[in-house]
Amino acid sequence: MILVTGGAGFIGSNFILDWLATKGTPVVNLDKLTYAGNPANLAAAAKDDRYVFVKGDIGDREFVGKILREHKPRAVVNFAAESHVDRSIHGPDAFVQTNVVGTFNLLEEARAYWSNLKEPERSDFRFLHVSTDEVYGSLGSNDPAFTETTSYSPNSPYAASKAASDHLVRAYHHTYGLPVITTNCSNNYGPFQFPEKLIPLAIVNAARGKPVPVYGDGLNVRDWLYVGDHCAGVRLALNKGRVGETYNIGGNAEKTNLEVVQSICAILDELRPLEAAIHDSRFTIHGSKPITRHSSLVTLVKDRPGHDRRYAMDARKIERELGWRARERFETGLRKTVHWYLDHMDWVDSVTSGAYRDWVELNYADREMGNRK
Ligand code: NAD
Ligand code: DAU
Repeated sequence: MILVTGGAGFIGSNFILDWLATKGTPVVNLDKLTYAGNPANLAAAAKDDRYVFVKGDIGDREFVGKILREHKPRAVVNFAAESHVDRSIHGPDAFVQTNVVGTFNLLEEARAYWSNLKEPERSDFRFLHVSTDEVYGSLGSNDPAFTETTSYSPNSPYAASKAASDHLVRAYHHTYGLPVITTNCSNNYGPFQFPEKLIPLAIVNAARGKPVPVYGDGLNVRDWLYVGDHCAGVRLALNKGRVGETYNIGGNAEKTNLEVVQSICAILDELRPLEAAIHDSRFTIHGSKPITRHSSLVTLVKDRPGHDRRYAMDARKIERELGWRARERFETGLRKTVHWYLDHMDWVDSVTSGAYRDWVELNYADREMGNRK
């Protein structure tokens, strides 16, 4: 049995579905169900008797201790976090609370639980912490990719809160001997990603004839990895990773944001040609001709404050030591993802509540989004 935290979010739910399909041992999913957590993501696991869902906060020590003693996991895999950079700019408190204080409380309870284990369970126990490339800061266009020894230089409240949690995880190994492993991954995309993040936002907006907002000059670079490849990396690190080590995971697929949204628009042109929608008023700009290409919806808007210019991950350590490889190419992964969103617009509608509309108003109101409906 393993305890997964934050398993109702984007990566956590993909991880649990993959885990049950490929590994077979039971999973307890501890999730607070914030706006980003959706039990519906795990509908396919709900009837599986190896899967248990528990609603709760990683910061609630008494509750976490109880769950650990009750289920006796051989590992904790910590995905739980506030994860959206823009939200961390508008409201950093929840990021410090969950990512820093929550991880600290989880570590404390894991340490207490682990200290009381007998051998061989004590030596076999793992605390795997899922982190991000953003802790390393921003690269210039000719800089080499981040390695595991690149010094931390976080720039957003989100990145700083993740960096703090990584440091606590490291300290619990060095000070108390807790058997920890940390993975730092680049930008993920794929099914179940909340439509506040660039790729699902662009797919959903473009498919609905709404502006696709691209911050600044659109030339910021991210290194994209299909979520299934990230999940495989976490599984490998958990099962074969060396205790106390960190592993970078990345897609070796650096793209500017403009390249990403243009690729999405080209796929939509093919799957949903706009000629068919030419009489659809959603695709008509007031007083002008109907648009015929989704790329006409791409709109450069006011930049994100402190926007990191470029991320790139050097994943050679996990490749060399654990035999991990990214299997999905960006082009095929993106196409699959566009298909998934077009087929799951009901999921999009179900996760974008009134609170989501308030978020869109807050984040995009002063970015001059154009006048399309
Ligand atoms: P997400 O926002 O989609 O999901 C986060 C999940 O954590 C949600 O289910 C939410 O309900 C839950 N959660 C939040 N606060 C909690 C708390 N206090 N207690 C218990 N559960 C709580 O995030 P994601 O994109 O799936 O990211 C998962 C992890 O992977 C995060 O730690 C993130 O930093 C890391 N990461 C994400 C990416 C990416 O591209 N999305 C890349 C690298 C690393
Ligand atoms: O790098 C890993 C990180 O990737 C994870 O740790 C974070 O949890 C995850 O949210 C993601 O952070 P980013 O800020 O890179 O992802 P996001 O999808 O928000 O933005 C990707 C790029 O697109 C970034 O340069 C900002 C830009 N962007 C984003 C949005 C939401 C836009 O241009 N327009 C937008 O509307």
